[in-house]
Amino acid sequence: MPDLPANLAQTLTVPFEHRLLFTRDVFAPENTTLAQVLTPRESGERVRVLVACDDGLRTAWPSLTEQILAWFSAHSAVAELAAPPLALPGGENAKATFAPLEGIWAAIASAHLCRHSYIVAVGGGALLDLVGFAAATAHRGIPLIRIPTTSLSQGDSGVGVKCGVNLFGKKNWLGAFGTPHAVINDLSFLRSLPPRERRAGLAEAIKVALIRDAAFFATICARSDNIAGGNHAAFEEIIATSARLHFEHIAGGGDPFERGSARPLDFGHWAAHKLEQLSGFRVGHGDAVAIGLALDLIYARRTGLLDAATCEQAIALLRRFGFDLHAPELEQRRADGHRLVIDGLEEFREHLGGRLSIPMIRTPGVRLDLHELDQRVVDAAIDELRDRHG
Ligand SMILES: NC(=O)c1ccc[n+]([C@@H]2O[C@H](COP(=O)([O-])OP(=O)(O)OC[C@H]3O[C@@H](n4cnc5c(N)ncnc54)[C@H](O)[C@@H]3O)[C@@H](O)[C@H]2O)c1
Ligand SMILES: [Zn+2]
Repeated sequence: MPDLPANLAQTLTVPFEHRLLFTRDVFAPENTTLAQVLTPRESGERVRVLVACDDGLRTAWPSLTEQILAWFSAHSAVAELAAPPLALPGGENAKATFAPLEGIWAAIASAHLCRHSYIVAVGGGALLDLVGFAAATAHRGIPLIRIPTTSLSQGDSGVGVKCGVNLFGKKNWLGAFGTPHAVINDLSFLRSLPPRERRAGLAEAIKVALIRDAAFFATICARSDNIAGGNHAAFEEIIATSARLHFEHIAGGGDPFERGSARPLDFGHWAAHKLEQLSGFRVGHGDAVAIGLALDLIYARRTGLLDAATCEQAIALLRRFGFDLHAPELEQRRADGHRLVIDGLEEFREHLGGRLSIPMIRTPGVRLDLHELDQRVVDAAIDELRDRHG
């Protein structure tokens, strides 16, 4: 028998540009932010664009569709709409079934978009996840421009590199990693948020501050009365800083596509994801993260990792922003008394792959990863939340 050919291996290096632009009134005709990033693959071409808009956003901004049409006519030298703006449901339900996804794929097909076209997604984190997944899979990837419109999506999810929809009752079970062509945070959109969506981004800001940046945590504490009192400038500043820290973590954290087990930005999230699921998404992501953070902070205090004063300061901050730090779903139990939310630990491990890795803090800005949690301490921490806030 002749010898086998030698095995081959090579490294493929593909640079990704990751851009985050801040603006106000992105669809005002004189605003050129979007035009700056609608770059043709070959110079001189006019790019074809499909815009997908969150229905909840359109309700809050009734003239949005007209503004988008007017913007594209003002910038017709650069870009053209391949189809009228697509209206899609916003919120978690949009990620729950295949119908909205199929609708977007159908719109992409009938508008004959190609990999030189762009999809512009305007809306909350759920809409961005949904449209992002449709864009990532159609033609194996059509460039996506995200315009996040909630505090959570501007400060956290929208600046990241993930998309996905829910399947088998599990969050983001079906999804992809991929760098958006650009993210445009239009701070004006933050003005119309109802209280739950306004505070959601604050939970993620507190999370990223606790994990990465003690000075930012101190700033949030110092501004908390202003923010809670409705001061918009203070609120914008916190969301913009949160966005920057999340953005910097993508390139600076060393693992943008989450190949390893550590997930530093998922502090408080193992319980949050399970709580959202147990509540049938009655509890929104931000509210669930606030509870998950409180739970992990108490866990860290009870196991001697974190001092009581810092734990209380962070919990008081969450309360100051209006978070309810208990949910009845935390009390759902199996017949043997085992709390269902604790199953979130194993689901978190399964979703990450590899070994369990739960981010915790010793002090703001100083993180460590735990590879096992003592379930009796988790139970005691939930009891404490129930007794204090239930
Ligand atoms: N891909 C990721 O990395 C990642 C990370 C964290 C969270 N997420 C996902 O993000 C989703 C949550 O996103 P969210 O908190 O932005 O909520 P959301 O997308 O569910 O939106 C909440 C509500 O606000 C409405 N809305 C959007 N913009 C508005 C505006 N400017 N004014 C008034 N209403 C507006 C929406 O229509 C919706 O009804 C979850 O599905 C979560 O899993 C994804
Ligand atoms: Zn989150």
